[in-house]
Amino acid sequence: MKNIAVLVSGGGTNLQAMIDAAARGEINNGRFCGVIASKDGVYALERAKKAGIPTRVLPRAEYKDVASYTAAIIETLKELEADLVVYAGFMTILDEQIMHEFAGRMMNVHPSLIPSFCGVGMYGLHVHEAALSRGVKLTGATVHFVNEVCDGGPIILQKAVEVKDGDTPEILQRRVMEEAEWHILPRAVDLFCRDKLVIEDGKVAILP
Ligand code: GAR
Repeated sequence: MKNIAVLVSGGGTNLQAMIDAAARGEINNGRFCGVIASKDGVYALERAKKAGIPTRVLPRAEYKDVASYTAAIIETLKELEADLVVYAGFMTILDEQIMHEFAGRMMNVHPSLIPSFCGVGMYGLHVHEAALSRGVKLTGATVHFVNEVCDGGPIILQKAVEVKDGDTPEILQRRVMEEAEWHILPRAVDLFCRDKLVIEDGKVAILP
């Protein structure tokens, strides 16, 4: 059984999608060992509590720099005995110390089809604003392993979503969540927990 820790900063709908998938038996060989929030009072913490998952709050503002913040996150992940770390709307940058401890064991959900609309500064609604201003007809979501390059790690799963006339960033964000993120994130977690993901030459192979 793998221990899954989830890092959050906001509403936690992706956390909820994983909790619901686990309740339906769609996450095999994994259990949630903790949810760590970068801010107090975020709704993701309520979702975790309702599901009986231990919570920790590590406010970014209370740490003097990214190095001390990353060290505190690592310490907490070790206390929770995390095997897999899921970034589910986690909006805080960590430094390379985390790679030394959890390389190949961290995944992130990003609300676009990487390599479009990703990288530094591309998070949350900004991603959908950029997609709409470029006029793409398709966007989507990506789950990828986290490495030292922002949104640059090996891609695990992607799903395309149509852009429609009259979309606002908020409407598009919701459609991308409903049609893509909430499906591919739990599925990627399940695949990891069942040892079905292999990284070769910077690419992910999914074992049968
Ligand atoms: C999601 O759309 C997620 O893909 C995005 O933030 C939202 C969090 O929502 N993450 C990023 O932009 C990271 N680069 P949630 O808190 O309801 O899961």
